[in-house]
Amino acid sequence: MATTDLISPNGLGISSAAQQIRNYSWIARRSIKTLSGWFLKIADFERKYTLSYHLYDNSEHVTWFRARLSEMRGGNPNANIRPQLREICDTVLLAPSDDDFLAGYYGVLQANVIESIKADLAALDLSANANEQRLLQRVLRDLESQQMWFLSLDFDWESRVWVGELRAFIKSMGGIHGELPLGDPYTFTQCETFVRPERILFDDKISVGPLCSYEEREKMDTKEATIEQFRVFFNEFYAAALLASILYDASDGDYPWELLADFSRHFWDEARHSEFGCIRLRELGCEPDRVNPILFDESQGLPLLHRIAYLTRGLEAYFMPRKGKRVKDYEKVGDIRSQLFADQDWSDEINHVRYGSRWTDFLLEDDHRDLDDIIDEVKDHLSKIRGKKVDTINAPF
Ligand SMILES: [Fe+2]
Ligand SMILES: [Fe+2]
Repeated sequence: MATTDLISPNGLGISSAAQQIRNYSWIARRSIKTLSGWFLKIADFERKYTLSYHLYDNSEHVTWFRARLSEMRGGNPNANIRPQLREICDTVLLAPSDDDFLAGYYGVLQANVIESIKADLAALDLSANANEQRLLQRVLRDLESQQMWFLSLDFDWESRVWVGELRAFIKSMGGIHGELPLGDPYTFTQCETFVRPERILFDDKISVGPLCSYEEREKMDTKEATIEQFRVFFNEFYAAALLASILYDASDGDYPWELLADFSRHFWDEARHSEFGCIRLRELGCEPDRVNPILFDESQGLPLLHRIAYLTRGLEAYFMPRKGKRVKDYEKVGDIRSQLFADQDWSDEINHVRYGSRWTDFLLEDDHRDLDDIIDEVKDHLSKIRGKKVDTINAPF
């Protein structure tokens, strides 16, 4: 087909194009809340990993959408979001079960977004709308890849009441942009209340139990120490969960987008570090079966600033001196595979401490307290939970 055959006679003016991008940006931004909440709640740990990848896709999309909006006349990213679009984004969170969540979020909301993007692309002028075209094509590629994962899950999702409800609502609002013929008004009947879990939930494949301490691992032979070390990697679920709690809570707060962007990245890194543990344990002949989420559990009840400070300026600073040594130790014994994971982890951790400095400084602007005061308040909180005085931030593994 010649290029001219693809050129729409109309194209899209700036104000319509900006509104479409605003709509997609809103959906992607609210997806961060939905996916962080369900990361904590969904029981299958491998699905938690997938949600973390998809959350980070959404964060990148918001950053891209905002970059384009900032160039557009009338491109305020927060203007003109229809109440129905807000409602559908907030409602997919309220699914009654894990499978309903997957069916509603991917099978209905995301499927509609994909259809909407395809229709928008077909209406663009390839020259006048070249910016929108490049942007939407990139986003579409990610969403179609997420959709393929969803469709590969073997469960009966289309006949669910929840799916029917969400579809009826999207029809009632005239699709993502409100441009399709409106269906009858629809009120949800099956919504649950979503309470962000204060514990990270798992199915019976994963139990809660102790991990070896650093000192114990140092005394073990190489093979045993490597297995126990990768159990600690697998346990980075605690850090991912702590960040999911930060993302979920920050989603409804008045914070700069860049805070959510940095912690989306940090969250995904920690989920990947846990995945490193899963991959390497299986390679070493062990199925991951245990977590010790105590550091996440104890962080709950702390304000957002304190959770950020506890993780990035307390715990990650505590673990940091081990990182470089670990990479060198694996190199010494010729364990290149373990070294790869340890090396990537070490590099990621340097960024995490940087995110921590940036956002604790920001959140402490105009505060009469400084970082040391916040860490002291965290220690007071831990002392109350543990029933004994906590003088230093550390970890039992
Ligand atoms: Fe990590
Ligand atoms: Fe980290």
